[in-house]
Amino acid sequence: MRRLSLVPVVFSACTRIPLMVNASVVHVQQRTVTPAHGTITSPQPGTPITNAQTGGEVISFGYTDSNWCHDGYSDVSVWLLNYAPNKGNINNTTGRFDDAVHQFGAYSIGNFGLPPKNPPPTTLSMPALTSPAYAPGASVYIAVVETATSCPPGNNIPPQYGTTSVELVIA
Ligand SMILES: *[C@@H]1O[C@H](CO)[C@@H](O)[C@H](O)[C@H]1NC(C)=O
Ligand SMILES: *[C@@H]1O[C@H](CO)[C@@H](O)[C@H](O)[C@H]1NC(C)=O
Repeated sequence: MRRLSLVPVVFSACTRIPLMVNASVVHVQQRTVTPAHGTITSPQPGTPITNAQTGGEVISFGYTDSNWCHDGYSDVSVWLLNYAPNKGNINNTTGRFDDAVHQFGAYSIGNFGLPPKNPPPTTLSMPALTSPAYAPGASVYIAVVETATSCPPGNNIPPQYGTTSVELVIA
């Protein structure tokens, strides 16, 4: 109840109330991908992974959401891939990468000053990369999928997925 009563106050300067629109969604018919995405602020491109074979390396992580759809919360998922993704690599039924090396997790970024629910972590722990493909000099990519949930406003709006990534290099 506390959160429901907060929402209209927070959105008083906004033309949409997406959290309320979402409550009426019953069937999701068709999902799409979008070129819109936010920005991975950390790690920096080219960051070396020095103990890829054993895993457990702690990588700093930061992501600024695009929130082009003006959602109250932006759902994001964070992945490790062995290729640089574009929107065509996202499974448009699930919003996932079917061929990911690893999924770090799924999180929710509060927008418009809404209280955090499940914010992305500030560090990621790398899995062990034991395949010979992960030899020194090989690249892997941390990718983020951001989901927009209510554009255009209305009933039965499908999620729209966008992605961006940053390249890391096996040391
Ligand atoms: C979803 O992906 C499939 C397979 O790649 C493609 O045929 C279809 O057009 C896509 N649907 C949308 C809405 O983008
Ligand atoms: C997308 O994921 C669904 C559910 O896992 C799967 O059935 C489908 O084959 C995937 N689409 C493509 C294009 O691989």
